Amino acid sequence: MSFVVAIDGPAGSGKGTITKLVGEKLGLINIDTGATFRCVALNMLQEKIKIEETDKIKDMLNRINIDMMENGSIFLNGKDVTKRIRENDVNDFVSPISVVPIIREKLLDIQRKIAEGKNVIMEGRDIGTVVFPNANVKIYLDASPEERAKRRVKQNEEKGIDTSYEEVLKNIIDRDKRDSSREVAPLKKAEDAIYVDTTKMTIEEVVGRIVDIINK
Ligand code: DC
Repeated sequence: MSFVVAIDGPAGSGKGTITKLVGEKLGLINIDTGATFRCVALNMLQEKIKIEETDKIKDMLNRINIDMMENGSIFLNGKDVTKRIRENDVNDFVSPISVVPIIREKLLDIQRKIAEGKNVIMEGRDIGTVVFPNANVKIYLDASPEERAKRRVKQNEEKGIDTSYEEVLKNIIDRDKRDSSREVAPLKKAEDAIYVDTTKMTIEEVVGRIVDIINK
């Protein structure tokens, strides 16, 4: 038996930070499903596979090996790609490839296997709706696009990446539109998920709120 907490929400809603902190507090293994899509995007870039090359995608998916370490490191085909999958070329390619049905199918399988028999807190876009519709706790994190863009710019600054607020805001709005309007597993709140708007909340407040919800 495993215990599953599903955290869904749009880009920049704080899922990554919050999931990590809540996981540490409650002893749950933190699984970032966006990283699995990023690994597929990177593998396609490395092998120069285009989005319409279905046969090549299938072949690549048959060979792909994605490992998530308990310390948060991500390995693609035996190589540590934790930092590489956050770079701009992957950022730009990941949302388009995440609508391809065979890619979602394969990753659904990988994501379920990673969580098997464990107590996990899993973050993504469709965890409460598709990956684990019977999750013990479902949370939908949200914040205004402007607040999410502000957070991303700050995060980028801390990593030494120079981006403008306007550029990031546009990227967030485009990504929201694409992630919510796709046919397969769109980003949407599960009916039984608890909606948490973090626009005016601090990280500590959000963590406290979610720990309370899980404990209840
Ligand atoms: O959370 P992130 O920014 O690392 O996610 C990267 C992309 O992967 C995002 O644009 C949408 C996609 N994704 C998805 O479709 N389903 C998930 N469960 C997680 C991510």
